[in-house]
Amino acid sequence: MIIDTHAHYDDDAFDEDREILLAGLQAAGIGTVVNIGASIDSTKTTLALAEKYPFIYAAVGVHPSETAELTEEKMRWLEEMCARPKVVAVGEIGLDYHWDEPEREVQKHWFREQIRLARRVDLPVVVHSRDAAKDTLDIIKEEKAAEAGGVIHCFSYGVEVAREYLDMGFYLGVGGVLTFKNAKKLREVVAYMPVDRLLLETDCPYMAPTPHRGERNSSMYLPLVVKAVGEIKGLSEEEVIAVTEANARRMYRL
Ligand code: NI
Repeated sequence: MIIDTHAHYDDDAFDEDREILLAGLQAAGIGTVVNIGASIDSTKTTLALAEKYPFIYAAVGVHPSETAELTEEKMRWLEEMCARPKVVAVGEIGLDYHWDEPEREVQKHWFREQIRLARRVDLPVVVHSRDAAKDTLDIIKEEKAAEAGGVIHCFSYGVEVAREYLDMGFYLGVGGVLTFKNAKKLREVVAYMPVDRLLLETDCPYMAPTPHRGERNSSMYLPLVVKAVGEIKGLSEEEVIAVTEANARRMYRL
């Protein structure tokens, strides 16, 4: 069954119908969801979802745009949370120079600290990197993040950068963007990369695939991404689901 490797079901966008939506996922072929923390608060709500639903796992961490809230004390709390049984990764962490807040030195500091945390607790990292290709790669290398392993989620760079991450053993997260008309660069990356390093993700409620672009996204739309991957890689939808499920289980150790 499909594994949604990156979702935010604790987001307000799901307040109206979260229970109904999640209850229907298995019947729609979505077997497992990894819900991703993006702040201290959303790490708490992510952990609560993972406790409530057997098929939901949790990543704990603070998104680059939220790193102004981090302190040594909050880092110690995150480290404690990493010991919870359904926590499978540290994330999402990284650099976001698109929004460019807080200042870059703050983002970089907490990116490094959260990679160090992942290495200490031996969990993979879920990396968010937007308009920050060089600095992300530099920090990943300097902090030896490859020893923790992980995924570059919503991969948005070209083949050259993809090669660097693939050479280090990282996975690349691919979602709704692959179905967009203007996604030539991502289609090239998917064509280039070995399919056994590709993870399916929604980043829901964001990034809904065509023809739902701009609407609220959910794992229910992942079959559209499966189809797009299959067309590029010359695989059946069943083959894409089987290989990406195995990839997600290997990376998150599910
Ligand atoms: Ni996300």
